[in-house]
Amino acid sequence: MEVFSRDEAHEKTQKYDRMREKKAFDESMAGVKGLVDAGITEVPRIFVDHPENLQSALASSNGHFHVPIVDLADIVKDPSRRKEVVNEVRSASKTWGFFQVVNHGIPTTVLEEMLDGVRRFHEQGAEEKRRFYSRDFTTSVAYHSNFNLYKTEAANWRDTLFCVMAPNALEAEELPAVCGDIMLEFSKRVMNLGTTLFELLSEALGLKPNHLKDMECAKGLVLLNQYYSKCPQPELTLGTSRHTDSDFLTVLLQDHVGGLQVLYQNQWIDVSPVPGALIVNIGDLLQLISNDIFKSSEHRVVANNMGPRASVACFFYTATPPSPKLYGPIKELISEGDPPKYRETTIMEYVSHFSANAKGDGTSALQQFKL
Ligand code: OGA
Ligand code: NI
Repeated sequence: MEVFSRDEAHEKTQKYDRMREKKAFDESMAGVKGLVDAGITEVPRIFVDHPENLQSALASSNGHFHVPIVDLADIVKDPSRRKEVVNEVRSASKTWGFFQVVNHGIPTTVLEEMLDGVRRFHEQGAEEKRRFYSRDFTTSVAYHSNFNLYKTEAANWRDTLFCVMAPNALEAEELPAVCGDIMLEFSKRVMNLGTTLFELLSEALGLKPNHLKDMECAKGLVLLNQYYSKCPQPELTLGTSRHTDSDFLTVLLQDHVGGLQVLYQNQWIDVSPVPGALIVNIGDLLQLISNDIFKSSEHRVVANNMGPRASVACFFYTATPPSPKLYGPIKELISEGDPPKYRETTIMEYVSHFSANAKGDGTSALQQFKL
């Protein structure tokens, strides 16, 4: 028989309870929204985060710093303007890993309808959502709360609908009825914007405009429709723990509520909502192939008691079917003085490794691929 000290026993009981409570939450298949609808007035303990992770989460962030805003108007017809934009994109991607784009070509009506679609999905009856409930990431459509529920200590105050939109387009019937049409329309436009962004990023690296597109960085798209229910105790939990994105590039649509923060010079800086704008951030795979020229920055979402908050994270990477293509630092970017910093990997290998290690504590999966 094993003998435990009291502390160990206590720790084990806590761990056991935590797992059991997480399992009960998972099996409800109703997400955080289900808890809120049931009328809870306190955050259940599986969501209560460590004070150090919550630090400065509610204090408004340093007003000296603002994520750069890049105006994409006229970049096709005005070569000198394009050059300026390429410089702005380069500078933002090297330092912040984040920028916002305006005049990106996607009408505000489409953005608004997309956010309405996110709200419609998460606010419909539990039965309709349950049909999509899954933790299997090889499926093309999955609804769940906390993809890493069993890996983290504290769960996040967030529900997600995950849909693979490209390269193999889903039929409208395979997507949830309340948001399928707008997801298809929005995705088509985000793919076009993606082409423009990868051209600008290629030029910013001193490569031919088609370089990143030819590497198939813009080929796959996954939409994550995120829903952050209003939280009764936003000082105790996070909407999304600190993390980097595992993809090449993310285009993020957020509503007016706010709460997204990026880690810049070791401070959490608000990425404030700008009406009509889209946020763009560099993912780990682009940091890897750019040999650390571009930076995949940590970011998080604080919980709020004004919500719900809706957002759509558009991940450029090929999730399914898995591609055998190998990605390593781009040859044109390496030299004797600048040797490759990473080994080659497939998207599948990188993302699996990333997910297996997604503990919500900010450790970067990229480290494991360093040479
Ligand atoms: C993400 C993410 C931010 C948000 O899905 O990776 O960082 O505002 N989302 O929902
Ligand atoms: Ni993210």
